[in-house]
Amino acid sequence: MTNKLKYFIGNWKMFGDLGSFKIVAKINRFANKFHTYNNKFKIILCVPSTLVYFFKFKIKLKHIFIGGQNCHFNQTYGPFTGHVNASMLKKTGAEYVILGHSENRADGETNKLIKKKIKSSIDQNLKVIFCIGESFKEKKNGKTFSVLRKQMRESVEKRFNLNKIIFAYEPVWSIGTNRIPKKEQLEKIIEFIKKEYKRNFRSKYYPRVLYGGSVNNNNIRIFSKISNLDGFLIGGASQSSKKFIDIIKNYYK
Ligand code: PGA
Repeated sequence: MTNKLKYFIGNWKMFGDLGSFKIVAKINRFANKFHTYNNKFKIILCVPSTLVYFFKFKIKLKHIFIGGQNCHFNQTYGPFTGHVNASMLKKTGAEYVILGHSENRADGETNKLIKKKIKSSIDQNLKVIFCIGESFKEKKNGKTFSVLRKQMRESVEKRFNLNKIIFAYEPVWSIGTNRIPKKEQLEKIIEFIKKEYKRNFRSKYYPRVLYGGSVNNNNIRIFSKISNLDGFLIGGASQSSKKFIDIIKNYYK
């Protein structure tokens, strides 16, 4: 059920300008060095679309991949002021895209809309980091599993190229709050997502499932003991090269 390769994905959110290439350069140096004796992890930085091209080509990235943080569902150009689509992201150097993030769901993104985005991103050969997670109220009312099931079923279809989707379990109440789920709880939820996926999409394989929400260089030690986790989606802490690198170092300590 667990893949050996662990993902450390940075979600920069609305952060960064041209000067931020220094952060990427430092993480890149670390990745190059560490990689020679430990090729067990993959680093992906999901940055604002204004920076994708610049980071991708300014620095020689050997062991870091660049992704976007959202895209429009329309496959071609169109009258959608302020948006970029999957093809535009791909052409500027992104290999991944985060979709379904709760901050965008809070702005009105529905499961149905997210599904169109997933489809269009896969069609454009982007790998999708698909975020799912329950709110605090849903958790309190014992709805976690049913919410996750609905989010998965309503946004993913069996006919999609499923191995292009990485799931990120991000409980809304843990994002940017310094609150994290209990170890046993998280283990169960990750197992649920993997089994539900396999059953529902009749897949031979378990999917990759990451955790996201207030991951930092201290609590990563707790997460490193959860064997069915395939990696992490890291928000705030990924905006500092030191914090991000320390998370990876401490994970393997
Ligand atoms: P956080 O954000 O690590 O700052 O809690 C995670 C995310 O939003 O992906």
